[in-house]
Amino acid sequence: MMRLFVIATLAIGALSFTPSCPIERFSRSTATTIISSSLSSTIPSSSVPAKENDDSIWKFVDLNEKIKNMLVCGDGDLSFSASIAQTVHNEDICLTATVLEDQEAHGKIYQRSISNAEQISNFENHKVEFSIDATKLEETFPGQTFDRIQFNFPHWKGKANHRYNRQLIDAFLKSASKMISDDGEIHMALVQGQGGYNAKTLTEYRDTWTPLAYAADHGLLLANVKQFDAMYNLSSHRGVDRGFKIGQEPKMFIFRKEGKAIPTRNQLCCRHELHILLPDNEESLNSQMDIMEGDKIQEIIQEVVPRGIRVEVPARSILLKEDTGYETNMAIFMIVYCGESLSMKRDEADKYRHLAEVAVEEHVPLRENRKGRLVSKPFPSHLLESVVAENGSYGLMKSEK
Ligand SMILES: C[S@@+](CC[C@H](N)C(=O)[O-])C[C@H]1O[C@@H](n2cnc3c(N)ncnc32)[C@H](O)[C@@H]1O
Repeated sequence: MMRLFVIATLAIGALSFTPSCPIERFSRSTATTIISSSLSSTIPSSSVPAKENDDSIWKFVDLNEKIKNMLVCGDGDLSFSASIAQTVHNEDICLTATVLEDQEAHGKIYQRSISNAEQISNFENHKVEFSIDATKLEETFPGQTFDRIQFNFPHWKGKANHRYNRQLIDAFLKSASKMISDDGEIHMALVQGQGGYNAKTLTEYRDTWTPLAYAADHGLLLANVKQFDAMYNLSSHRGVDRGFKIGQEPKMFIFRKEGKAIPTRNQLCCRHELHILLPDNEESLNSQMDIMEGDKIQEIIQEVVPRGIRVEVPARSILLKEDTGYETNMAIFMIVYCGESLSMKRDEADKYRHLAEVAVEEHVPLRENRKGRLVSKPFPSHLLESVVAENGSYGLMKSEK
């Protein structure tokens, strides 16, 4: 069996998150009361009202943000928009509720179509629009921006199919990313199992819709994830007027443009290995140990990647030549790039990998046939432990403090 030596220490890092300066508009308890009262007519008997002071519960009016306008996409029978119309009006927010179907088809499919549409458009600052494709918002609303764009439980109308649903959320996020104001947010509710937020392994995560990766491709960061209690009439099951299952833990994924740091838990990462050759002469080996130990490799690489990308070295090992058959001993580092205030795109991460190899090679020689290999597909940072564990069998061991 290979003899492995953990040579230095570095645990999986947790970078502190600096929230933006809050503008307190009204007290938490007041807001909860407003929302509860506006929704009371549509709360299904099984729903539990949001607890006061519970940050895990999603609220459509964020206490910290002033929003002027809100666009709701793919709103089924318009029940969600109807349920928030009064509260949104009280907050001076203009609401645009939209559905994919044309008005005639919508009226035929949904028994609440007309009553919900009336309930919304009775407010002068609200409107209902039909035939709106959430993947082509820039065509429908040219030159406009929204402070909030929301799509609850997007779903391609055919049978459940990851490929089409992934295409739908990818295209929606792409389109919505061009339509939000600078501080705007995209809120996308997903059924349990679609978002991958609680996935325990990479395999489990890859079986979800991987929304973080699509969001990152369009320059979006996952600012927050909250429990979403859907307290309105859930309709529109594959294009017919029927409820659908949302599981025990539906979640609201809240995306923002790049710029502000997001919590470590929400970041997306890519990884690669760095193989460093350790020549056999003891003098040189000693001097190279300076580089190998502690945080040096991490510091060298952090220097060359853009601000907003966090570098971690969560695993490292030395492989002895007797064990590998290679002509020198070798140090292997797992290098991880995480999107902290910049979104993590795989092709960009590959450029960071190249910069890292060039920078490290100024200090120590690299194993030639391990240079230039593509970084991994992006994965959420909470799976880093699991990624490290999976790589243990290839000789990499978790760094220890
Ligand atoms: C599971 S239903 C959810 C409906 C509603 N948002 C709710 O929470 O009750 C999925 C919705 O996505 C809508 N949808 C699918 N593709 C769409 C697209 N390209 N643009 C707008 N809506 C779309 C469907 O019309 C349907 O209303």
